Amino acid sequence: MTTASGQSQTIVILDFGSQYAQLIARRVRENGVYSVLACPDVSIDEVKALNPKGLIFTGGPSSVYESKAPRCNPALLDLGVPVLGICYGMQIACQILGANVRPAPSREYGRTMLQVAQPNELLRNIPAQTTVWMSHGDQVKELGGDFITLAATQSCPIAAVKHATRPFYGVQFHPEVTHTPHGNEIFMNFLYEICGCDGLWKMGSFIEAVVSDIRGRVAPDERVICGLSGGVDSSVVAALLHQAVGDRLACIFVDNGLLRMNEAQLVRTTFADNFKIDLTVVSAADEFLGRLKGVQEPQEKRRIIGHTFIDIFKTAAKSIKNARWLAQGTLYPDVIESGHSLAGQAANIKLHHNVGGLPAELGFDLIEPLRDLFKDEVRKAGELLGLGENVVWRHPFPGPGLAVRCIGEVTPERLEVLRQADNILLEEITANNLYRKTAQTFAVLLPVKSVGVMGDGRTYDNVIAIRSVDTSDFMTADWSRIPYDVLAMISNRIINEVRGVNRVVYDISSKPPATIEWE
Ligand code: XMP
Repeated sequence: MTTASGQSQTIVILDFGSQYAQLIARRVRENGVYSVLACPDVSIDEVKALNPKGLIFTGGPSSVYESKAPRCNPALLDLGVPVLGICYGMQIACQILGANVRPAPSREYGRTMLQVAQPNELLRNIPAQTTVWMSHGDQVKELGGDFITLAATQSCPIAAVKHATRPFYGVQFHPEVTHTPHGNEIFMNFLYEICGCDGLWKMGSFIEAVVSDIRGRVAPDERVICGLSGGVDSSVVAALLHQAVGDRLACIFVDNGLLRMNEAQLVRTTFADNFKIDLTVVSAADEFLGRLKGVQEPQEKRRIIGHTFIDIFKTAAKSIKNARWLAQGTLYPDVIESGHSLAGQAANIKLHHNVGGLPAELGFDLIEPLRDLFKDEVRKAGELLGLGENVVWRHPFPGPGLAVRCIGEVTPERLEVLRQADNILLEEITANNLYRKTAQTFAVLLPVKSVGVMGDGRTYDNVIAIRSVDTSDFMTADWSRIPYDVLAMISNRIINEVRGVNRVVYDISSKPPATIEWE
């Protein structure tokens, strides 16, 4: 529950089941204030232990008058700590404080115009009329004498409220979404004016706190092992650990033969050459490809790759003397999802069966220096730690690597075709300034052959599919609108330069219903 970062100013966010809970947590952090998510039934003692400067109650899908609706301990409103209730969070707090909540005459969804009723600290610097995003079926109705209405919309007379004597504020709309253009000013007013936060939480101080925490835990004669994958999370972990324990860090990189073009080289250059980290590269392509021979079923591929990785990692780790610790790139959304945080299972982030996740029976003590961070914060940390843009902004790559993009059997020959096509695709995407604009772009080798004509001859060759998606959370995604002339160049180059490919297709499926990967 406690954070390695030992923050002095914290906002605790009670998640009543909102799809925006993590977004609220990020908005608070973007304003320089540390935030943690908690379940509505979190105990008063747990909240007090964090010494919060303020509380935020999120929205949620329930109605406060339903018997199974999530509730919080009413004593949270007696702590003397400012509370901001958003949507359901406003309704539940108003109900606790004596107001009534009823179904609205009609559900209000989408952009609507807010009229600010009177000057007040929560809506300071907000235009008298401003657009806000609404999504609710219930409304606070009778306030009683203890509340002051701060703003209204046409169909919601009590769209923002404050309590007359307690530091409670509520908004029926959603300030956290970008569709509420002045939403961030509302957060700033709450954090700085009402809670008195100084907004000094910065990535630099976070890194310092984590580094000093690690130094305190790892004894001078102990070593820390870190499994590098080439991805941003494990890279940032390694850079952080290196800053904390220097040459007592030992990194292991397993080259499974399923990597992208030049990937192993990038890891060597970054960590062995630049950072001078003790790096063991295990070349295990034969082992992986041998075990994958003849296997076509995607989950079976994942299982084999996962087990092989653990076997090989175990052997490599055994040869590192005095290794007591294993550093892993667990992020805050993983912590929330796994139920090991104040937020329990409240937030709904998809967790993948991840090849890089190592089992407890390896017998190491864990160091998870990123467990308080969101992905965008990890990238920021990576930049501060001196990792290059090509590492920090690298598109995510699945643990099973190219095996799940080589549909059907994985053979060295098919992998080579895929690797070359993927490399051309990425070269063109980068040259056309689209790499940072798309969230994930890659090639897929299909298990079909198609007829073509090259020169005067008939060909019967492979098909490459291009997959490129725009997304921020990877749970939903839309296909990227890559300009036609860029697609044309990619297709021409792949067909001309990759022997064995005579057709390129573009995947125009969104997620859902399709997934980002093909397997
Ligand atoms: P899907 O295909 O489920 O992918 O839409 C969502 C994100 O997860 C990545 N992904 C994986 N990552 N092991 C991983 O470490 C896996 O088995 C795996 N499968 C998919 C995918 O690349 C995308 O970023």
